Amino acid sequence: MSAATSTPILDIHPSAHPASAEERARRMTNPGFGRVFTDHMVLIPYKEGAGWGRGELKAYGPIEMDPASSVLHYGQAIFEGFKAYHQKDGSVASFRPEANARRFQTSARRLAMPELPEELFLDSARALIRQDRAWVPSAVGESLYLRPLMIATDALLGVRPSSEYLYLLIASPSGSYFPQGVKPVTVWISEDYVRAAPGGTGFAKCAGNYAASLVAQRQAKGEGCDQVVWLDAIHRKYVEEMGGMNIFFVYREKGETVVVTPELTGTLLPGVTRDSLLQLAKDQGWRAEERKISTDEWEAALQEGRMTEVFACGTAAVITPVGRVKSRKGDWLVNGGETGPVAAKLREVLLNLQHGLIPDTHGWMTRIL
Ligand code: COI
Repeated sequence: MSAATSTPILDIHPSAHPASAEERARRMTNPGFGRVFTDHMVLIPYKEGAGWGRGELKAYGPIEMDPASSVLHYGQAIFEGFKAYHQKDGSVASFRPEANARRFQTSARRLAMPELPEELFLDSARALIRQDRAWVPSAVGESLYLRPLMIATDALLGVRPSSEYLYLLIASPSGSYFPQGVKPVTVWISEDYVRAAPGGTGFAKCAGNYAASLVAQRQAKGEGCDQVVWLDAIHRKYVEEMGGMNIFFVYREKGETVVVTPELTGTLLPGVTRDSLLQLAKDQGWRAEERKISTDEWEAALQEGRMTEVFACGTAAVITPVGRVKSRKGDWLVNGGETGPVAAKLREVLLNLQHGLIPDTHGWMTRIL
């Protein structure tokens, strides 16, 4: 675990009205995902020519914006998501935050936004986690979810990159992403909508990608499914992602366990959990592959019994098994609709690592407190 000690360039103005211990305890009981927010937030302004200004940590609350702010019209907005975990020894550490800092820069470049220096990203997180440390849940499976975001704030209706931006960081104690907990989900293969096309914004974590996914998500619900599965925009046959998460397929081949995830073609989000699971699978002695996988292969491998499990992964929900797959062409069951041993093992190893219960052999944890 690497220790991080630098001092943030932020003015710290603690809230005059933080939640009482009782109120905090009440709000942290079964927090779900993204519904409860801590006492503070961080704001750092950017101005073309002047660069990043002095930041401020202050009481969590509404921000005032000009209704002409370009983010409200043209969607120049990016975000990230990573977590801080209570450790067995009482300290607090976060998981691969520098990977999120770098992806935030990649997203910024794609959206013609300024790149936030990695140190500023990490300093803002350290400052907020330190200030709101009482909001870091202690149970395994619960964590403090950090949500950095950047928005374009020029009050101008011309379509061009903004000259002013605001970086914000908020934090949310979180438990299970899906209301049903870690139960297998039913997915709908979307043939009417695509999430991303070559040359588009699929690899960036920008707000518009999520806005454009909602109608397909609603269609999936209408088909009795929990989540949508995205196919590639050109051939409409290669699997890309599930909802806002990456997807894995598990094969049993000649006595060997093989985990396969779609390769990063530029239209997929390069998930930090995805990358970590590829490594953790290899640590288990399994083979890990990044390649294209078509819906025909998916169906055939299930029918032939070669594919034993399917699961999705992301920071928010960690690992979510897929129990059933529906499309206009059919309806397939995966592993009898149950969570399989590979998904269960990877989830256990990842959570244990994140909570400091097993050695951090890859140096993924950054100690905050
Ligand atoms: C994640 O899986 O962490 C995501 O990015 C989903 C998030 C937008 C809630």
